[in-house]
Formats: sequence, structure tokens, C-alpha cells
Amino acid sequence: MAEKVLVTREIPEAGLRLLEEFDTTVLSEEPPERGRLLEAARGVEGVLSVLTERIDAEFMDAAADNLKVIANYAVGYDNIDVEAAKERGIVVTNTPVVLDETTADTAFLLLLAAARRLGEAERFLRAGKYTAWGPKLLLGPEVWNKRLGIIGFGRIGQSLARRAKGFDMDLFYYDPFRNESAERELGVKYLEFEELLSTCDFISLHTPLIPETRHLISKAELDRMKPKAVLVNTSRGPVVDEAALADALENRSIFAAGLDVFENEPEVHPKLLELENALIVPHIGSASFEARDRMATTAAENLRAVLKGEEPPNPVDL
Ligand code: DGY
Repeated sequence: MAEKVLVTREIPEAGLRLLEEFDTTVLSEEPPERGRLLEAARGVEGVLSVLTERIDAEFMDAAADNLKVIANYAVGYDNIDVEAAKERGIVVTNTPVVLDETTADTAFLLLLAAARRLGEAERFLRAGKYTAWGPKLLLGPEVWNKRLGIIGFGRIGQSLARRAKGFDMDLFYYDPFRNESAERELGVKYLEFEELLSTCDFISLHTPLIPETRHLISKAELDRMKPKAVLVNTSRGPVVDEAALADALENRSIFAAGLDVFENEPEVHPKLLELENALIVPHIGSASFEARDRMATTAAENLRAVLKGEEPPNPVDL
């Protein structure tokens, strides 16, 4: 009999095609209500999960002893209790690499757009306020030749560095693990965290969400930043203390922020919704047709490998 597989949300066809050999249920287009998710977990052997679903011990226990693999449709896996999975001998996988370039595109897009006030300019024009070209209309800091500080220098941080190089930016990074070969290859210099905060014009976050990175950027860190600094976050919302950021933007202690992720998604701090210098988009970092197809096939390949008794390409190591 074919193994039971649960896909928690609709994902691109490219991935679903790879699961045809299983008894696969795609739960819903929108995030399923918790009770329905737990109900659907019963007796499944493989789960392909999306980051809107909390896959915790309760979920795993609902699936009982059958569950062998949780294949997350994302590179981040903070929605999964990996420890609980490990205790139960369940393999967890993610989708690294396939979305790096798309996410780095989004980070650079937010960097440029927040600096040059793109959202605000578009709202201004649509509101019928554009009555004449103005020498001082909607000015913002230029990007070329400025200092970019990348916090978290993994694959996506490095892909961002490649883009920024083309804009003649001076490149710096902070990461708990120094990567001297990438420093040489990309012409990026290492800085201590505090020095990066106080000396860079643009700061982009590329850390995973782990206990050490929760509220990595809070009031004290925002206070260190330059008054014209632009902060970009395409990592995870809780890496930034959103209330502190909203205050900093309101008080103009930094110039702007470009945010793809939020502390309590899908909610956004009410102040950020009002502030012109907050450029906010709904977690679309990897939202290109191509990246989402690759994420779907990668997650499905991981799931399939485990159910066939093979090594999955992308196990999450603790
Ligand atoms: C991820 O993969 O972790 C992103 O947040 C969604 O693409």
C-alpha cells in the first residue's frame, strides 16, 4: 500500500508531481486551522510542511509512530520543533541553496527601494500629489559607494555581496564564524558586530532565527546606527525587536527600513503600517516562479528519499 503523505498547503505542481506514487493529501490553499491540521496528521508517514504550520510535539504525536519525515518547504525551519523530531527519530529536511539568489534579489530590492523611497513615491503619485517636478522632492541616500554591512554571512549574505559589488559598495560582514576564503573571493571585510552597526550605511540581516538571534537588533543596536542608516530584513521577523524599530523609524534615528518579515506574521506592528519610511512587503523573499518550483521539487525529493529508505539531500543537522 502506498505511504500516506500530507502536504499542509498547496505548493507548485512541480513538487506535487513527484509525490504521485504516494497516497498524498494536500490540505488547503490557506493555512489550515490547527484542529484540522492535527486531524490530518493521523497516521501519515511523510509531511511536506510550509512555514505557516507549527510542526511540534503535539503534531508529531498526532501522527503517532508512523511519521518518518518532515520536509519543510523553506530553508528556515523555526516552525518545526527539531529536538522533538530527533527524539522521535523523525528526519527533518529543508530547501537550502535553491532560493538563495531570489532572496538576495529581494534583499537588494528592499535596500534600493527603502533608500530611494519607492513605496512612498508610488503612494504619493497615486494619491494625485505629483503636481510638479521638485528639486527636493522625495530625496534619499544614494547607494553606490556606500558601506554595506551584512549580518550573517552564509549563502544568501554572500549572494547579496555579489549584487552590491556591482553597485560599487564597500562590503563588510559580521558572522560568528569568519569565512576568510569568501572574504578574499568577494572583497568583503570582517567587522565586529558593534563596529558594523555604527559604521555601515546599509545593514542587511541574513541570520537564521535561533535563541541567540532573537531580538539581535533591539533599541541599543538601533541607537548605534547612523542617522541615515537603512536596515533590511529578509531573514526572520523576530531577529528584530519590531516595536523598537518602529520607534527608531518614527523618531528618525535611522533613515528607513525594508522589511520582508515580521515578528508575529501575518500581523505587522501598527506603527510600521503608518510610517512612510518603513517599506514593508509580505514575506516574498523567495517568491519567484523559478525558486518556488525548485523549493517544491527539493522538498518533495527530500520526502521521497526518506520514505524510500535513502539519505535525503538536505537533512537538517542539529
Ligand atoms: C524560507 O525559505 O525560509 C523563506 O522564509 C521562505 O522562502
